[in-house]
Amino acid sequence: MPAVDVVWTPRGFGQTARRDWWWLQPLAVFLGLSTFFVYANWAAFQGNHYFWGPYLSPFYSPELFGESPHAWFGPKPDWWPSWWHYSPAHLILWAPGMFRVTCYYYRGAYYKAFWADPPSCTVGEPRKHYLGEHSFPLIMQNIHRYFLYCAVFILACLAYDAWQALWFTDPSTGHRSFGVGLGTLILITNVVLLSGYTFGCHSMRHLTGGRLDRLSESSLCKKAYDCSSCLNRRHMLWAWMSLASVMFSDIYVRLCSMGIWSDWRIF
Ligand code: FES
Repeated sequence: MPAVDVVWTPRGFGQTARRDWWWLQPLAVFLGLSTFFVYANWAAFQGNHYFWGPYLSPFYSPELFGESPHAWFGPKPDWWPSWWHYSPAHLILWAPGMFRVTCYYYRGAYYKAFWADPPSCTVGEPRKHYLGEHSFPLIMQNIHRYFLYCAVFILACLAYDAWQALWFTDPSTGHRSFGVGLGTLILITNVVLLSGYTFGCHSMRHLTGGRLDRLSESSLCKKAYDCSSCLNRRHMLWAWMSLASVMFSDIYVRLCSMGIWSDWRIF
């Protein structure tokens, strides 16, 4: 084979030979994640209107200490500093938040969208050296597998909340009866979408697949691995749908609690 010398010319920031709309995806990611980040922080700081009837906002679940009937250990603890505004979401939201921040898919998406590293494939980036995830601070992203355990626990809590959302209390008699409202369906859908996202996690595949570079011999592990791999093929889609559903679930519960929306009781 004859060898051909190719001269490599470094590209300046944003330079590319691409003629497609390569900037559209990072822009959409930037807008989508920024919207969610601003809304989630605003909602978490409110500390009110996070429950209505049998519904509990997923931003506040599990509610460890709080004023709602869903609180596990009673009202706001005495040791909470008086100068710091209390919201039950502050105690738990760091776990699902870090699970998303360290997710392999989101990493690739926000590296491009937020600090242009690179802006897109074959598009010039604003720095000369690529340190990658083998050095500090990005090596810390490997903590993702541990946040998976937290995410599975929170998912179990949200599934329990969805079950609770099937039981309505009659305010006049205090009697609880089985029923389905639009809020129930929204909270159940949220659990389904979050399950698709969480169980399709790369770390879940490693967890179910076996050890090191060999698949487990157990047929149960193989089935779990196949199932996780199947969900993983659409991980990006699950990531965005579950992000939107968590946000919409909070909006729905909040607006019902504020009296702006009325829950539609199906039966
Ligand atoms: Fe996305 Fe684990 S890789 S949640």
